Amino acid sequence: MKYYNNEEIEAFRKRAHDKIPSGAHTYSKADDQFSSNAPAFIQKGEGAICYDYKGESYIDYGMGIFSVSLGHAHPKVIEAVSDQLKNGNSFTRPTILEGELAEQLCDMIPCAEMVKFAKNGSDVTSAAIRLARAYTSRDYIITIKEQPFHSFNDWFIGSTSKAGGVPNNIRTQTLKIPYNNIETFKDAISAYPNKIACVLMEPVTFDEPKAEYLNQIRELCTKHGIVLIFDEIITGFRWNLKGAQHFFNVTPDLATFGKGMANGFACAAIMGKKEIMELGNSSGDVFLLSCTYGSELVGLTAAKKTIEIFQEENVIDHIWSYGKDLIVGLSDQIQALNLENQLKIEGYPCRPNISFLCNEGAFSFELKTLFIQEMVKQNILMERICVSYAHNDKLLKSSLKATAATFEVIQKGLNNNNISEIIDGEIVKPVFT
Ligand SMILES: Cc1ncc(COP(=O)(O)O)c(C=O)c1O
Repeated sequence: MKYYNNEEIEAFRKRAHDKIPSGAHTYSKADDQFSSNAPAFIQKGEGAICYDYKGESYIDYGMGIFSVSLGHAHPKVIEAVSDQLKNGNSFTRPTILEGELAEQLCDMIPCAEMVKFAKNGSDVTSAAIRLARAYTSRDYIITIKEQPFHSFNDWFIGSTSKAGGVPNNIRTQTLKIPYNNIETFKDAISAYPNKIACVLMEPVTFDEPKAEYLNQIRELCTKHGIVLIFDEIITGFRWNLKGAQHFFNVTPDLATFGKGMANGFACAAIMGKKEIMELGNSSGDVFLLSCTYGSELVGLTAAKKTIEIFQEENVIDHIWSYGKDLIVGLSDQIQALNLENQLKIEGYPCRPNISFLCNEGAFSFELKTLFIQEMVKQNILMERICVSYAHNDKLLKSSLKATAATFEVIQKGLNNNNISEIIDGEIVKPVFT
């Protein structure tokens, strides 16, 4: 590995900002999402550890923004990809692997009768929207207010505070309803009779769905001819190998998968009912995801191997079990310091989360910044919590030791009313609201 000193790193940072808007190709990897002491760049990852360019290593809880489910540079995935690369990566006719992998997903995931691959989650959710609109001949879309992200494309980003460049008519076609509130869905159906093409939602983010909520959504969609789309980009390969749709026993019409399915390599998929997916046949009306790299073999080979490892080893059980221990440890520490009003542990064990709250109950970006900063000081990168198969007991122990020290700093800062003074640099910001 090559190492640089602080001055050299800062020069690289400046050059990146000079040539890349926001200095990173993914907003959530940018400087303004991290405390100022966080590593500016990562050069290597191994298991659940990542390495910066200064010679520091960190326990990684970002894991490529939830995409690296088995661990960085998993030897079996790397071997499979390397073997494939010797035989080329992109051809002018399909490989047999495309069909085999599609079959495998259809055998595994309840809603899947047909599958189409792409390279990222944004494109497969957009493809689902286009299919739903074509299938229903309707324009309006419903998403869930609290669910932060589905796509960089117009239909979604136009519904956020970062809607620049999205035509107004598109912005107004995406409606938002709160999670776990079936009445607001009924209201939207009444307010837009025969106009709603689909509901696109994560079956779950952090809050548990109320009893019957997902079933009621399913029933109302069926009754009113609305296509139900589950965005399983995060929940897939995390709640269950068959998706959160299997976990909750609710089958959508279409579903999208991405992060986690190829251990950090680029592979995403839309799948669902044949009757809807078939609109994307060459003879159908819909131009459904056709891109040069849609079936390039690195992504597909990595997905095949990753799925095999998920099937052969207890990856999902491990993720749940580690997450459960982490939640118990964090909750005990927070309780011992009486910080329950400021730090809320939420989410299922397979996707734990810490919510940072100010006195008024709103999200506190100050506390989040201080938390990231203090964890970085102890060589842990925890701006989110993505547990992977590579997180082990030793790392759990080190992580909990670090959170205990961090929570004490937070408590002291709150008691001394000087949180902003003990933060070095800028407060982290949401990418959009
Ligand atoms: C739930 C969800 N859906 C869709 C996406 C978009 O996926 P991608 O970043 O691969 O385009 C994301 C990305 O963060 C996501 O979290």
